Amino acid sequence: MKILVVGSGGREHAIVWKLAQSPKAAQIYCAPGNAGIASLAACVPIKATDVKALADWAEENKIDLTVIGMDDPLMLGIVDEFESRGLRVFGPRANAAIIEGSKVFSKNLMKKYGIPTAAYEEFTSPDEAKAYIQANKTYPLVLKADGLALGKGVLICENQQDALDGVDEIMVDKKFGQAGSKMVIEEFLRGQEVSVLSFCDGKTVKTMVSAQDHKRAFDGDQGLNTGGMGTFSPSQYYTKDYEEKAIAQIFQKTVDAMNQEGRTFKGVLYFGLMLTENGPKVLEYNARFGDPETQVILPRLKTDLVDIFEACIDGTLDQLEIEWEDNAAVCVVLASGGYPVSYQKGYPIEGLNAFEGQDDLMIFHAGTAFENTADGKQQIVTSGGRVLGIVALAKDLPAAIEKAYQNVDKVTFKDAFYRHDIGRK
Ligand code: AMP
Ligand code: GLY
Repeated sequence: MKILVVGSGGREHAIVWKLAQSPKAAQIYCAPGNAGIASLAACVPIKATDVKALADWAEENKIDLTVIGMDDPLMLGIVDEFESRGLRVFGPRANAAIIEGSKVFSKNLMKKYGIPTAAYEEFTSPDEAKAYIQANKTYPLVLKADGLALGKGVLICENQQDALDGVDEIMVDKKFGQAGSKMVIEEFLRGQEVSVLSFCDGKTVKTMVSAQDHKRAFDGDQGLNTGGMGTFSPSQYYTKDYEEKAIAQIFQKTVDAMNQEGRTFKGVLYFGLMLTENGPKVLEYNARFGDPETQVILPRLKTDLVDIFEACIDGTLDQLEIEWEDNAAVCVVLASGGYPVSYQKGYPIEGLNAFEGQDDLMIFHAGTAFENTADGKQQIVTSGGRVLGIVALAKDLPAAIEKAYQNVDKVTFKDAFYRHDIGRK
């Protein structure tokens, strides 16, 4: 098979890496890809959001299967475009990707179908939102812009003034663009946050192993929110009891609700759960693999990923047994100094071959590029805020943490930094 993966981050590197293990994958392409992905796939210089150009290219190159990694193209209807041309594609159509693309949609869906989530109100006018805040007595309060905002459209407000200012940021100053034409104000939930991703064929849902993300930039959850500074899998907080409740109250119920709404969901449905005193509650849905969760989940998958994608497209997921290793994985992200605010790019990276021949240590590239040196050679340089994910696999979480930190310093670039407490939530 000729397989195309759409995206360019650590998540897409992990997807390409796993697909490359399949005997069915004869040739893998990635658009646009990055310098690490280029060692496993032919990179195609088309932007992930250039839906029409990607479909044209897939048609011309007779691609057998396309996998969408990123959220933006899903919302832009890339799956609809590919399907309309008879191309096989893994991911939800735009009318189902809205479960991630609109907080108002997902909150209303959960309310209508009785899926546990934080209590909330929806607003289309800043004055009404402010009137609600003026009457509110309990803090923190959570403000969310309706649309996609690169994970930044959520404000946790500690007091009334912060909340009033937050409404201005989202709805008046439009700091998150059109994502802020509507908003949700919701109850603050306490607990551990766990990511449970699932494969979905429109009817059947099969969850993957659990993972947890560290979102803040620095050790001890200090500093600003980032795209994710590291992950681990499994989460020790996601106990059998929480899992049973989530199975009964959340997973299948969501898939059935989407069908009821005429928005059949196929692809990866990502449940962002808060494990509260009163059971698991949905914080958010994503319509795709998580980044950097994927980097610790896919290395634990035994089943051929091509078979899973095909079963999801064909609606035969109920007939496929998905198997996981009984082990643990940790991903430590190496970021550029200054991330997530401002940082330099273009620094050469040393040590990228440090783990060659070892199958318990991986480097997934997130923000890297090729650059020509003065003597006409090519080198790999930093090209983003999150640059690399160093992933260690071991029999359990403590062993995986130890292995990751014993090896992370073998890969370096100028001003690199990472968190020292990944996996120690
Ligand atoms: P979301 O994009 O909705 O997942 O929100 C981003 C992050 O904000 C989440 O991963 C949580 O850490 C936090 N968050 C969102 N909603 C709530 C809530 N109701 N209570 C507490 N934390 C929240
Ligand atoms: N790691 C969070 C996300 O992918 O949305």
